[in-house]
Amino acid sequence: KNIAIFASGAGSNAQKIIDHFRGSQSVSVKLILCNKPGAGVLNIAASENIPSILIEKEPFFHSDHYVQMLQQAEIDLVVLAGFLWKVPSNLVAAYPDKIINIHPALLPKFGGKGMYGNFVHEAVIAAGEKQSGITIHYVNDKYDDGRIILQETCDITENDTPATLAGKVHALEHRFYPAIVERLLS
Ligand code: GRF
Repeated sequence: KNIAIFASGAGSNAQKIIDHFRGSQSVSVKLILCNKPGAGVLNIAASENIPSILIEKEPFFHSDHYVQMLQQAEIDLVVLAGFLWKVPSNLVAAYPDKIINIHPALLPKFGGKGMYGNFVHEAVIAAGEKQSGITIHYVNDKYDDGRIILQETCDITENDTPATLAGKVHALEHRFYPAIVERLLS
């Protein structure tokens, strides 16, 4: 089974997924696609010898260029790991229930465009939430809206800051995302 990872940032989730399937006979991370030149995830791809593609906005949103690329690579599952663009409907249509995302909060609250990075954790703390966590969900053509696959929670204490909460949420991401990817591919 072949995975394509879409990421925009540091790629810590991509790294954990790559580590999880290292040496696997049945699953491989075949492609890494990124929309940000110089993003950390591109360095991870290089050091892991995984082909990476820098996505151009125009063809991504107005052509089948990348859909064809994924199909030619015989990708079975598209994994968004900190990918900040909305997935265009032609890609969603080409991979029904085959595109998943991880959101660093408990959807349906605290989701949608712009809700990423520490901004999410600031909003969750400002709202006085006692818990936060992760949501792994199928991707449709709305932000953070598809069917939920898994949610895991962490507590928020009064001395938590957006940074300390981000640390707790990242730990959940790294612990659960690779296992969910494996389960979906088995
Ligand atoms: C994570 O917080 C993830 O939940 C969100 O974007 C961030 C990606 O971080 N979708 P990284 O690039 O995997 O370190």
